[in-house]
Amino acid sequence: MASNDPLLQPYKLKHLTIKNRIMTTSHEPAYPEDGMPKDRYRAYHEERAKAGVGMTMTAGSAAVSRDSPPVFNNVLAYKDEVVPWMKKVTDACHEHGCAVMIQLTHLGRRTGWNKGDWLPAVAPSHHREASHRAFPKQMEDWDILRIIEDYADAAERMKAAGLDGIELEAYGHLMDQFWSPRTNTLDGEYGGSLENRMRFSLNVLEAIRKRVGDKFIVGIRYTADEADKDGISAAEGIEISKRLQRSGMVDFLNVIRGHIDTDPGLTDVIPVQGMKSAPHLDFAGEVKKVTGMPTFHAARIPDVATARYAVAEGLLDMVGMTRAHMADPHIVRKIMAGREDDIRPCVGATYCLDRIYQGGDALCIHNAATGRELTMPHDIPLADKKRKIVIVGAGPAGLEAARVSAERGHDVIVFEAAPEPGGQIRLSAQSQRRAEMISIIDWRMAQCAARDVEFRFNTWAEAADIEVENPDVVIIATGGLPHTEVLKNGNELVVSSWDIIAGDVKPGQDVLVYDDAGDHAGLQAAEVIANTGAKVEIMTPDRSFAPDVMAMNLVPYMRSMQEKDVTFTVTYRLKDVVRDGNRLRAKIGTDYSDLIKEKNYDQIVVNHGTIPMDEIYFDLKPASVNLGELDHKAFINGQPQSIAANADGKFQLFRIGDAVAARNTHAAIYDALRLAKDL
Ligand SMILES: Cc1cc2nc3c(=O)[nH]c(=O)nc-3n(C[C@H](O)[C@H](O)[C@H](O)COP(=O)(O)O)c2cc1C
Ligand code: SF4
Repeated sequence: MASNDPLLQPYKLKHLTIKNRIMTTSHEPAYPEDGMPKDRYRAYHEERAKAGVGMTMTAGSAAVSRDSPPVFNNVLAYKDEVVPWMKKVTDACHEHGCAVMIQLTHLGRRTGWNKGDWLPAVAPSHHREASHRAFPKQMEDWDILRIIEDYADAAERMKAAGLDGIELEAYGHLMDQFWSPRTNTLDGEYGGSLENRMRFSLNVLEAIRKRVGDKFIVGIRYTADEADKDGISAAEGIEISKRLQRSGMVDFLNVIRGHIDTDPGLTDVIPVQGMKSAPHLDFAGEVKKVTGMPTFHAARIPDVATARYAVAEGLLDMVGMTRAHMADPHIVRKIMAGREDDIRPCVGATYCLDRIYQGGDALCIHNAATGRELTMPHDIPLADKKRKIVIVGAGPAGLEAARVSAERGHDVIVFEAAPEPGGQIRLSAQSQRRAEMISIIDWRMAQCAARDVEFRFNTWAEAADIEVENPDVVIIATGGLPHTEVLKNGNELVVSSWDIIAGDVKPGQDVLVYDDAGDHAGLQAAEVIANTGAKVEIMTPDRSFAPDVMAMNLVPYMRSMQEKDVTFTVTYRLKDVVRDGNRLRAKIGTDYSDLIKEKNYDQIVVNHGTIPMDEIYFDLKPASVNLGELDHKAFINGQPQSIAANADGKFQLFRIGDAVAARNTHAAIYDALRLAKDL
């Protein structure tokens, strides 16, 4: 029976029928190899296509020119060899009825010069972009003509690869660098009036149309309001939208609101957790209304209800659920099966996007199979043999192990000392801004409940409690405890970041937060203290503070703390703490010299990762078949664990997550998935 769900209605774009209204907007996960979308890339898109997404906009900022070197391992659309690789991606997705397009761009000043072919970045002005820092060459006439042709060449390659269409990127990149008075200081026919500032993009469209014809789908993803003074205003953006429509060369508009030349700007365009959902949806709807053009949009529409509303209300024709699909590639399949409650929620952690700006690949904080489709399953297959699996610890690692083991069909018991599940995640979620993190736990608890996993809360498990269960496998996922023993003297005088976040210790009035772990806990504790009106100094021995928090995640912390009494001190190492009356005197050194200085505070908070809670592991080790040993080769290659060093052993014993060594949520969940999928 045909569904009447607005999200599941087909959409006709020119000659192309897209089977439903859900798309993934262009997002470069930085999976290319040598700039080419090879097997990993294809498997990633194919997984979403198989599960029913209507359209996938592949790549993200695929480069049309050699002087647009990748900022995060983008597809090199300026090479002919891209054609067969893109064809494979396209064919694989088409096989499942998923429409496929690609985003093409020239990054202009939004890149660096010291990579690729070492050509200078180019832009219609000398103005540097704050995020990427290149001082661009101001473009000459021959740069303009060359790049127009590059766009047309790249479009032709994509048509040859069998794609359904292309999208040109015009927010923060070369096209809108021409549009915006902030970034265009050219004289002559490409600078000055709006007509002149739009000339470059219209010339590009003309060149593309000449090559690919009128039938091939060509759209544009563009900022229709830079939301910044001196930038493109909403009124001018609407005028740009109308001119694009009137040009007759554009088949769809994919609306962006904002500017991305700074980390805070980028974060307003792509909001992270704790920020408003769907903040630009109404604006996109307005553009659709005034232009009558097919309109797409994505910006934190993480849930099906909001997506459905966007389409039902006629605000959008295609709704982008991009990070939502990184968290769960099977969204459409689950909607169709009436299983929306099973969708693994995107919690807006933006670990995915922050990683690519640090040179990594995009990974989801709580779906370790995303981007690893060649080795990690999104659907867990049943095991050949049912086993009894006992897990100690109900944090992210323990719960992922429980979920995966239960999906394998095993009998699963989870012991947890605390009254509630969650471990460190529960702590992170204490801050209102990070409250969504708890969905990582809630989703797993619901999945476990549906598969009859037995939980024993408020139970401090001893080795004997485990052995009496006669398990086949024991997994220790007990996590860690804050490690504050970093000083020569005075360890007993400091408190941990967790003490502050959990509310176990009242914040002082004049506080040093010494953070040499560089993760969220340090900044989160500092924010809790600063919120009380206290004076806070955040100190690190590193060159920059909180490196593991990364660009977009740093934004809400800075917005919250910069307006309070908070200072940042880098390159200093806390050595000793002594009592000085009712204050604490800190002895502060540096790795760069023998310099020592002293400063008084009334509280010192240390953030130095965790130390594993591994007692039960070592108690159980002698009774295990494998003596706790993990066969790394099998673990990495996706084979079952078969070490049997102890003939008298009664069960296999493994340890995962921070119970092994302090890492992060993704590492804990990946440990659990990798191990449990082969049990
Ligand atoms: C890993 C990653 C890479 C991205 N790269 C691009 C890109 O190259 N071009 C682009 O237009 N948008 C890019 N985006 C933005 C997405 O297309 C989308 O606008 C954004 O994630 C907001 O939508 P969402 O809330 O549904 O995720 C990227 C997003 C992610 C998560
Ligand atoms: S890392 Fe966070 S924002 Fe990115 S897909 Fe996963 S849950 Fe969503």
